[in-house]
Amino acid sequence: MEGKRRYFAFYSPKGFIRKFSAVVKAPLVSAADPLIRQTPYGACPVSMLVLLWDFMTPRSKLTSLKSTVQQADLFAKSIGELAREAKNCRNCPLWKNATQTVFGAGSPKARILFVGEQPGNDEDLSGKPFVGPAGRMLDASLVEAGIDRSQVYVTNVVKHFKWEPRGKRRIHKKPSASEIASCRPWLDAEISSIAPALIVCLGATAAQALLGKTFRVTARRGEFIQSKLAPYVMATVHPSSILRAPDEETRHSEEKKFIADLKLIKKLKI
Ligand code: URA
Repeated sequence: MEGKRRYFAFYSPKGFIRKFSAVVKAPLVSAADPLIRQTPYGACPVSMLVLLWDFMTPRSKLTSLKSTVQQADLFAKSIGELAREAKNCRNCPLWKNATQTVFGAGSPKARILFVGEQPGNDEDLSGKPFVGPAGRMLDASLVEAGIDRSQVYVTNVVKHFKWEPRGKRRIHKKPSASEIASCRPWLDAEISSIAPALIVCLGATAAQALLGKTFRVTARRGEFIQSKLAPYVMATVHPSSILRAPDEETRHSEEKKFIADLKLIKKLKI
């Protein structure tokens, strides 16, 4: 029997929800608890070790019941349902200055999920991710690398455009850690729903959000990193960094390196 990653949850003695995932080969018995039955989680026995683990973990590292229920609720939804619900997202103040939520786009059965930072000006106006200059560069590079666009889903760590005015222009502003954290439930739900074989982080914001704050794209681009998020996770530069290259020669060589990173994907049997 082929192993499948399953998500487990149970109430901890501190009144929090404990979650973990594991690859299991046998079907799971569902929990008697109605909360757990409503979620995609299975049941698991609580051992003495778990009690010890719970009492030794600082409160700040535990997940509250409310946020776990909200996340479990999102995990049960399809991409279409998530996109509809995200239209009204008020998890952080970024919605106030944005035109609309820019949710991910692409095949719900995509094997490859690309994650960028946040929508830009064009994406904010159109409501679709990666349709501006960075998106065109990504599309052209995918073609060069021989990656079928229909196998791909693209999204962002943050779903609203953060900007500041400069004259008549709206200039991109980096999202803060708390804005990234507020938007994270949507990204986790997208990853869970698509269940891609490979996640490609485009740039440092996506890479550090998914692979940890100390992750350095410059040092580790093109590497396949072990992660619970997907069988393969890779990081490379953000296409907009190529567009910002100081001269034509640098831009050309950066573009070649980006395509070379994407070509690594073709070697995977996914
Ligand atoms: N840059 C991103 O990170 N995402 C987009 O959707 C567009 C530009």
